[in-house]
Amino acid sequence: MNNNFSKELEEENYEFYNEVDPSKPDTITKFVDDINKPRVLTPRCINSKGTYYEVEMKECYHKFHKYFPKTRVWAYEKSIPGPTIEVLRNEKIHVKWINSLPLKHFLPIDRTLHGAVDNPEVRTVVHVHGARVDSSSDGHPDAWFTRCNAITGIKFEHEVYRYTNDQQATTLWYHDHSIGITRLNVYAGLVGFYIIKDTLERKLNLPCGNYDIPLMIQDKSFNSDGSLFYPDSPPFPVRVKPSVTPFFLGNTIVVNGKVWPHLKVEPRKYRFRVVNGSNTRNYNIALSNNQSFFQIGTDGGLLNAPITLNEIPLEPAERADIVIDFSKLKGESLILKNLGDNSPHTGVLMEFQVVLPLSSEDTSKIPNILYPIKDHLEEHMATRIRTLPLTATQDDYGRPMLLLDNKMWHDPATEKPLMDSIEVWNLVNLTAFPHPIHVHLVQFKILDRRLFDEQKYLEEGILEFIGDPVPPREYERGWKDTVKADSKMVTRIIMHFKEYPGDYVWHCHILEHEDHDMMRPIRVLKE
Ligand code: C2O
Ligand code: CU
Ligand code: CU
Repeated sequence: MNNNFSKELEEENYEFYNEVDPSKPDTITKFVDDINKPRVLTPRCINSKGTYYEVEMKECYHKFHKYFPKTRVWAYEKSIPGPTIEVLRNEKIHVKWINSLPLKHFLPIDRTLHGAVDNPEVRTVVHVHGARVDSSSDGHPDAWFTRCNAITGIKFEHEVYRYTNDQQATTLWYHDHSIGITRLNVYAGLVGFYIIKDTLERKLNLPCGNYDIPLMIQDKSFNSDGSLFYPDSPPFPVRVKPSVTPFFLGNTIVVNGKVWPHLKVEPRKYRFRVVNGSNTRNYNIALSNNQSFFQIGTDGGLLNAPITLNEIPLEPAERADIVIDFSKLKGESLILKNLGDNSPHTGVLMEFQVVLPLSSEDTSKIPNILYPIKDHLEEHMATRIRTLPLTATQDDYGRPMLLLDNKMWHDPATEKPLMDSIEVWNLVNLTAFPHPIHVHLVQFKILDRRLFDEQKYLEEGILEFIGDPVPPREYERGWKDTVKADSKMVTRIIMHFKEYPGDYVWHCHILEHEDHDMMRPIRVLKE
């Protein structure tokens, strides 16, 4: 062993450095790796038609932890997360998403799932989650393409996607969305940030530049040799192998591609754009010193006014834009925790070390008013109210399967909103657990959650509310594209399908559910 290395180990007291077994969280030293802020993608060219980017998907080897061997992953531009796409509101960009992946998957494919039966094994399609975008650039699950576009899905229209970014500044994220293998492609590493900025936001003087850091939180499990572990069957006997599993919970936490990293910060305010990029796991993020922080935004952009919180729960795909003030913590370390879990491992996300000197006075602000409320949506404006049950049933192989509106993915579209219409959706969750429901194309508002007469609904099909409506939780009172549909409740959302007609989807963002028919088409009709 070289001397510097051993000295470093001694200094930082890494007793377990040679006993690290990536499959055993107990042996993995935490807070060893510096977190990386993914680089911002540079355009290939900028011309009168807009900004043009290329993003290539490749197999490569990634270091998740200093003491892990390198791990085979699939990544955008060989980086996990992929490079951040940063745009201005209304800036037109084109992105050529290039599939240069192998033809064989390295994770277990379930051939019985929709779209996986006789399609090529490795398919990709990229969706910018939360974007208001033309349907042919939305990354429809059937718009997949294989390496060099040799074979394409029925919805594939063009290889260069076009984004107009006609929406409020916010943190979106891009990820794979191909039919039947989304859970595997995302788990393999196909995720990245997509950040929209605007002048209104810039004027607010929020923490920016080095003090504005996106955090992608995911859970993963590894084999002893450092390779990614993903189960090839559920934790109960089934006739199919490999088989989809109804949930996946990893035993380590990965933030921006590093297992339990740390971030060295200055004693000042920082903005963190937190994305839950996990397959199934939800988090309840909080700081170990119980310090409160400010939430300034939700999925779809800045809140009208900041709120002070001690914890924020995040379901898969939900985002929280927060500001943490480290100014009184010089020299201290604090942990970003997951209160949703008592485990010493998955209950811990990362560490902040307030050890950097203040490079200049912190003049950033958290103004009392962040963003003017526009597009006010009220229930009486809706022209259509849909009641959509979330149910549990069994598939042809006797496996548990979760459905939306009791229909399978391939059943014809029934959610067909008219362009420029406002709809209210009653998400009636009849299952025993919550599901993060995501609607493409729109940002919606949560109206309320309500208890209902379950028996009446099941027997007579009549939705009768009991009890008062529960207003949305404090941290979800902004624009949302993903909502936690609580068990045994009706979660009511309102949205405006504005200018784009065509085929989109809505689905549960637990990727194991999405791949197993908990996804439905949406067809926005011109008239
Ligand atoms: Cu984040 Cu349809 O997906
Ligand atoms: Cu989406
Ligand atoms: Cu679900």
